[in-house]
Amino acid sequence: MSEEKFINIKLKIWRQNNKESKGKVVDYKLERVSTDMSFLEMLDVLNEKLIKEKDPLGPVAFDHDCREGICGMCSLVINGIPHGPEAETTTCQLHMRKFKDGDTIVVEPFRARAFPVLKDLVIDRSAFDKIIEAGGFISVNTGNAQDANALPVPRRDAELSMDAAACIGCGACVASCKNASAMLFVSAKVSQFALLPHGKIEAVERVSSMVSKMDELGFGNCTNEAECEATCPKGIKITNIARMNREFFKAILIG
Ligand code: SF4
Ligand code: FES
Repeated sequence: MSEEKFINIKLKIWRQNNKESKGKVVDYKLERVSTDMSFLEMLDVLNEKLIKEKDPLGPVAFDHDCREGICGMCSLVINGIPHGPEAETTTCQLHMRKFKDGDTIVVEPFRARAFPVLKDLVIDRSAFDKIIEAGGFISVNTGNAQDANALPVPRRDAELSMDAAACIGCGACVASCKNASAMLFVSAKVSQFALLPHGKIEAVERVSSMVSKMDELGFGNCTNEAECEATCPKGIKITNIARMNREFFKAILIG
């Protein structure tokens, strides 16, 4: 059990009224922040204060859902790092004990052409949904659980597939990449199926349609910076990008 402490912090938060308006950084002060709070709970406290004080800009809009590191909604850039300073941790699982008394914390939305800001820290990540809709699934009937289990899968492939399936679609890989590339996300979605016999049947169509949708939506290309891997809260490896490139090359050869 951690011993509860309190810190005073300064916040610099991106405020933007809507998609069209110009945004700006606004300064706030928050006193006696419990170090046991999560980052999102700290924003809740700030918002309660802004509502109580009838702040002209109102509460800060930010996305969240599960607050358990599962849904991928809590997309914030904290002090220049998507999801903040703790490795393999989503913003909702980040705690205020990671900050010191007197710290200034800069909070911005994930930035990429394909992720327009809707309000304050809320972005539109529907581009990811469009990539999945383009083919990121298995459409053939794979049967019930016991039927699926009847197909032998090498242990290593099962493990690698499960590792890729851990991607929560948060978009941190896009936000951290200087090219705003979505290749880590797409490669995780391609890999989770490409490694299993059930997914191999539609592998050519899947990789072709997902990659062409990714390009069409304005994401950039991968130039092996590996920033995506460094900021991914689920530890998705860039070896998935190499696998996706091989799958894509095979698809070109097969036609
Ligand atoms: S690959 Fe990692 S950073 Fe990218 S969307 Fe998936 S979980 Fe988020
Ligand atoms: S709110 Fe669901 S992952 Fe953070």
